[in-house]
This record gives sequence, C-alpha cells and structure tokens, in this order.
Amino acid sequence: MRKPFISANWKMNKTVDETEEFINSFIPMVKDITDVEVLIAPPFTSLQAASRILKTTNIKLGAQNIFYEEKGAFTGEISPAMLLSAGCSCVIIGHSERRQYFMETDEIVNKKIKTARKNGLEVILCIGESLKEREENKTFEVLNGQLTGSLKDISLEGITIAYEPVWAIGTGKTATKEQANEAHEYIRKWLVKNKEGADKLRILYGGSVTPDNTEALMSEPEVDGALVGGASLKPDSFAQIVKNAGEKIRVNNRRMSV
Ligand code: PGA
Repeated sequence: MRKPFISANWKMNKTVDETEEFINSFIPMVKDITDVEVLIAPPFTSLQAASRILKTTNIKLGAQNIFYEEKGAFTGEISPAMLLSAGCSCVIIGHSERRQYFMETDEIVNKKIKTARKNGLEVILCIGESLKEREENKTFEVLNGQLTGSLKDISLEGITIAYEPVWAIGTGKTATKEQANEAHEYIRKWLVKNKEGADKLRILYGGSVTPDNTEALMSEPEVDGALVGGASLKPDSFAQIVKNAGEKIRVNNRRMSV
C-alpha cells in the first residue's frame, strides 16, 4: 500500500516569526504519527527558518515554486540549488494559481520539473480542470492535456501528482470522494499506459480539504493523500488532517490481520 502523503501549501501566508510559531506547536501534535508522510511548503522567505526547526523531525520541507534555469540573470527567480541549500527536498510545480496568475503553461511546467528532478528535488505536480471545463464534460480531456504536456520526457521517479479541481480550491466546495476517485483513477490509468512505475506514484487530492472530509476522501482507493491550503494554516487543523489520513493505513492493517 502507498504511504499516505499530506502536504501543506501555505501560499502567500506567514512571516518568518509566524512560521516558527506554527512549526513549534505543530511538531508535538504529530510526533507519534509515523504512518503518514508530512510536508510543509511555506513561502521562500520562511524556508531556512523552517528547515532549522524541522531538521530533527521526519517532516519534509518543500517550496511552492522554482525556476527552470539553474542560475543567471533572472531577477526575482529561485533556482534548485537555492532551494536545496535552504533545506528543501521537494517543490510544488504547476499549481493552478501559478497557471492562472503567472501564465504558466504545461511547457513551462515541464521545464521546471526537468530542472527540479535533475537537481534531486522531488516534485508535486498539480493538475486539474476549471468549473467550466467540468460542466462541459472536458475533465478527462484537460487532465490528458496537462499530463501529456507536463510529463513529456519525464520519468515518474520522485514525482507525486496532486489532482486539484480549480473550482474546489479555496471555495469550500470539495469534490465528492467519488468525483475525486474518478479523476484519480483516470490519472492512474493514464500513467500506467504511458509511463513506468505508475503503481508506486501517489496521487493527492487538493481543494477545500479539512479535518472533517479527510477520512472520507482518503477512504477511496486511489486517493493517497492531500494537498492542503487554507486548513494547513492552523497547527491543530493541519495536525488533525494528518491524523485522519493515517486512518487509511490503520484500517488496512486491521483488515490484513483478520
Ligand atoms: P485549499 O487550497 O485547501 O485552500 O482549497 C488547496 C491548494 O490550492 O493547494
């Protein structure tokens, strides 16, 4: 069984002090949970402070973006080496907010993934359809296009996919567990057909995940975890999501021991 993976995406929230405060109270809340992989992706400015505190824990540190060149005259951009030296092991690429506000195309996403992987960073690749696309029954077509473009000439090692329907992000409108599983199933089938090692890759759901809906979403066979925005900003709510995600493993273990 794939280990559940819960990632916090803080977006443009939290100063250095707020980051330290969050992490210091979060660590004791999840210290006994070993069956869930946890990642926090704060803003760039908080990475180093977060890394210092997280060093002695199993909690991973990620960034929310990266540039596809490795160094040079690219004012305002951040390279893989910078992320690694700040303590990151992972980077979120292709989030719908970056596609929408910063004009990131699948081609740019593809270049970013290549540079990240070349430098040993793990990647969470975000894909998902808009409300209009869903209403026009184009969900699978959109996912196919994003997967084809973003993963061109890329092997699946070190990659996690986050299915984030744009209409569910920050809206309080979560996809039903059936809708999530259906999209995840499509993604899994696409990967099995087009790439090696698709069975090991984890597919996270993202979009208005809360402590209250985590267990139901995670009860679906193809939902391996969550990418959490709003509900990851408070230590107790994020810790509860992590705990609830672990229930998937506990239920499975109980089933196996019967
Ligand atoms: P949300 O954001 O949980 O606030 O909907 C999820 C995301 O954008 O990754």
